[in-house]
Amino acid sequence: MRLPAITPSCSATAFVLDRLRHGLVALACAASLANSGDALAQAPAAAPTFHRDIAPLLQRHCEKCHRDGGAGPFALVEYADVAGVAAMVGEVVAQRRMPPWHADRSIGRFANDPSLPEAALATVAAWVAAGAPEGDRRDAPPPRAWASGWSLATPPDLVLTTPSFTVPAEGTLPYQYVRLATGLTEHRYVRAAEVKSVHPEVVHHSLVFQSEGRGARVARPSANEEGAAAGSSPAGETEAARTAAIERPWRPGFNQLELMQGAKPHEIPQWNARFMAMIRRDLRYGESGGLNGYFLSGLAGGGAVEFEPDEGKFLAAGSDLIVQLHYQPIGKATESSTSIALWFAEGARPRALDTRGVATVVFAIPPGASDHAVSAEYRLPVAATLRSLQPHLHLRGRSFTYVARYPDGREETLLHVPAYDFNWQHEYVLAERKELPEGTVLRVTAHFDNSAENPANPDPSATVYFGLQTHEEMLIGYFEVTWRPGE
Ligand code: HEC
Repeated sequence: MRLPAITPSCSATAFVLDRLRHGLVALACAASLANSGDALAQAPAAAPTFHRDIAPLLQRHCEKCHRDGGAGPFALVEYADVAGVAAMVGEVVAQRRMPPWHADRSIGRFANDPSLPEAALATVAAWVAAGAPEGDRRDAPPPRAWASGWSLATPPDLVLTTPSFTVPAEGTLPYQYVRLATGLTEHRYVRAAEVKSVHPEVVHHSLVFQSEGRGARVARPSANEEGAAAGSSPAGETEAARTAAIERPWRPGFNQLELMQGAKPHEIPQWNARFMAMIRRDLRYGESGGLNGYFLSGLAGGGAVEFEPDEGKFLAAGSDLIVQLHYQPIGKATESSTSIALWFAEGARPRALDTRGVATVVFAIPPGASDHAVSAEYRLPVAATLRSLQPHLHLRGRSFTYVARYPDGREETLLHVPAYDFNWQHEYVLAERKELPEGTVLRVTAHFDNSAENPANPDPSATVYFGLQTHEEMLIGYFEVTWRPGE
């Protein structure tokens, strides 16, 4: 059998432009392969083959998204799927555009880094250069089984689903908020969770907040325990809500003024006036809204988040989950709903994980500015163990860095994302947990590109301020820790 040699003329960018009709583009790419004949005959005997060398790599690094029902635009499972796009696969792998991962590999190590090892890059390059030979089917690894429902082997303990929502073909939508009652009668620790949307391509992000409801808020003990008890109206207050307020693991309070950092004192009222309505709306949800942190998030690429056996997220009895949905129209009206699956920890109480944000709303990115820097800081009020980091910017986001400044003055870069990509809101899970002493300052710095050179920029002539929509900007450095008060 003769295989066509692959020409590099099958451009990867065609896919970006026409990702929805990827099937057609894949055909066009296949048709553009020049049948130059003896590529196989000339390939060295040791040339990698699809079944023996490439299929295992695709299974491990690509199939999660590139399979039927995955987040990727086409399957990369069978030889027939891959043969026609081999040149493009070679290109995205060589450039490390796929699998998507945006951290600078020289800084920190991350448990969820999906990158191909160097040796695998060479294998893919050699395979493409050899004309993408199929090889012997008997060398193929057994097909990888993908759960059709949730990603974990055991069924979830609780699944909550938002009502179906029709995303219109065009326009921008305000965030949608949906409240879902957990119906829990006991406090639980979440040991794993998965957030999944029907038609994930219309869901830019989903953030899940926890709300203990009005009853719980009334019951939360104040500094003066007795006064609170006397003053609290029992209406809506359940025993569970009351104990949640008492048993809830320690977490820092939220000071709205931190969102004003970077402003000179006399400017604060102006910034406040400009954004307060928007911030207040956000603050209503969960524990001070998405600027301050979240309970769970639906991440690009999907899959479940699983915590270490001794870590979990505290979910109070009787609480509701509030799902913040940021929909993005894709040119045709599309119905979507989002489900949250939770697996609860059994037995010993794990250490409680808490996701918080370092953020500021004080910035104005000038028109055309190609490298506008904005920073924000957060001083840890108690010692903490760091699990993960998650930068959040919008379309002008260019790069993102987290630096820890320890109480002894030493500084350490924890994460550097040199080419931030709005489409990939990765959570970077540290390979080894990092102990941050009390008083450590987390500083996040983002650079924004508001120039016409930024292909994602919707309007280089605009001065860009903080805002919820993607044509506005944000600077949030989420970090997930277990707090260690008193250590
Ligand atoms: C986390 C999900 C995910 C993983 C893992 C992943 N991809 Fe993708 N891939 C996507 C998505 C989504 C797109 C379309 C949007 C884009 O290009 O960013 C894409 C696009 C592509 C394209 C089209 C070219 C392009 O730039 O748009 C190729 C080729 C590709 N992926 C190959 C691979 C290969 C090879 C692997 C494994 C080595 C891989 N992908 C792993 C999600 C993924």
